[in-house]
Amino acid sequence: MKPLSDLLDHEPDRQREMCRGGNDWLLDLSRLPISSAHFADLTRRRSTIELERAVRDLFAGNVVNHSEDRPALHMALRSLDGDVELPGAAVERASTARRRFLAVADSLHSGAAGVRDVLHIGIGGSDLGPRLIADALDSGDSAVRVHWISTLDGRRFDRLTGRLNPMTTAMVVASKSFGTEETLTQARAFRDWLGPDWSKRSWAVTSQHRRAAEFGFSDQAIMDLPAWVGGRFSLWSAVGLSAAAVIGPSRFVNLLAGAARADAEFAGPGRQQGLAIMLAVAIDFLRCQAGLPALGVVSYEPRLGLLADHLQQLVTESLGKSVTVAGDPVASQTSPLLFGGRGTDLQHSLFQALHQGTDTHPLLLIGTARCDHGRPDWHRVQLAHLLGQASVLARGRPDGPPHARLPGQRPAAVLLLDKLEPDRLGWLLASLEHCVFALAHFWQINAFDQWGVEEGKRVAGRFAASLDRGETSPDPSAGPLLDFIRRFQHD
Ligand code: F6P
Repeated sequence: MKPLSDLLDHEPDRQREMCRGGNDWLLDLSRLPISSAHFADLTRRRSTIELERAVRDLFAGNVVNHSEDRPALHMALRSLDGDVELPGAAVERASTARRRFLAVADSLHSGAAGVRDVLHIGIGGSDLGPRLIADALDSGDSAVRVHWISTLDGRRFDRLTGRLNPMTTAMVVASKSFGTEETLTQARAFRDWLGPDWSKRSWAVTSQHRRAAEFGFSDQAIMDLPAWVGGRFSLWSAVGLSAAAVIGPSRFVNLLAGAARADAEFAGPGRQQGLAIMLAVAIDFLRCQAGLPALGVVSYEPRLGLLADHLQQLVTESLGKSVTVAGDPVASQTSPLLFGGRGTDLQHSLFQALHQGTDTHPLLLIGTARCDHGRPDWHRVQLAHLLGQASVLARGRPDGPPHARLPGQRPAAVLLLDKLEPDRLGWLLASLEHCVFALAHFWQINAFDQWGVEEGKRVAGRFAASLDRGETSPDPSAGPLLDFIRRFQHD
């Protein structure tokens, strides 16, 4: 492969061939180690009739999650005006649920509910997506503050209960299974803290309505999450209730509208030139042809700082598979290990290894062109760093003493949005969901199950019994660890 700097400087029309976009976005793939002719060929070869059929199956509500015999209809959650053809029953069910949870969100956002603080208790897809939406789109006009509670943290519990007023605090318990240990353990503790009338200002978001009722939620406080929505695809549903309470129901609807636009693009004839497919072909190349095992998502739009956390689950829980839908070993590598965060923060830590380390880790750098706050100079600094990093990663620095040289040849795709409004964020996140779906199709794997996380939870339960009741350890090799822990168990 030619050095990236040669490709950038000498390949005719490279920028034109390797940049795609629309009125409000630009994806620049020219800093990937591939000729534009080869990339065009890869894109053509991936535009198969089988992909057409897979997309049709997805939107038709056919079974696409074969190990759980389910469709995947997260698109129905954002179908507002029927632009995209989807099963009517799913759209209707989602629409009914949306009206209910947005009414609650409005009462919280406006202050009508008389609530000051909301405890959002959930983990994984019941936390990461809504947390990102709230962080990215919070305009500071909500009557409530949301506290995101995911992993078990006793000190956090003490701090919150020591500082908040239970009478003006509400609780949202988001759990599709209503069986997740971290979520239910903390929900029970906060329920007791909220007091006897806790249920008057608490809601459950789940597909397991009976379990929520057994916990003590009234029927009208149980928000529906259909079984055909995967956890990591559920931010568009009532799992987003707390986020809608932060940003306001109308902006949440704008978020949904943006996602619906991405659905129309992906379901329509323009798919091949859309963000989802272009990124999927690029990631497929980096992972399977260039053999690079990781992918960094680095945002130079500070409000997208939590995007990498959300994508880490969306990408690795969807694509971290090693057998095909048919049960055979996969024919290629699959999920990259996804990392990332905020751009300039990472330039004071991770970027040293990205520039001078022995391994190459490709990046997706994301920014917004328009400044929508009162510090345009700060915004320009962010963009200058994005452009500077993309250039130096690719070109390196050949001169100077050995310790100061940079090898370059480090791939970086650059995605620019015109601005970060709710509809743009919705479009971006839904496009990334479709990118993941396309990659799962390329690799013939199931994007919608996650059996790999279940065994660890099962064995953890047996270790809990060993720690709590002295039962035999499920793994003798853990003896020294258990002995050390037991020395401090009763301090
Ligand atoms: O990590 C496994 C997983 O099931 C995720 O897919 C899901 O988002 C998370 O745990 C939380 O699950 P639940 O919403 O059922 O509590």
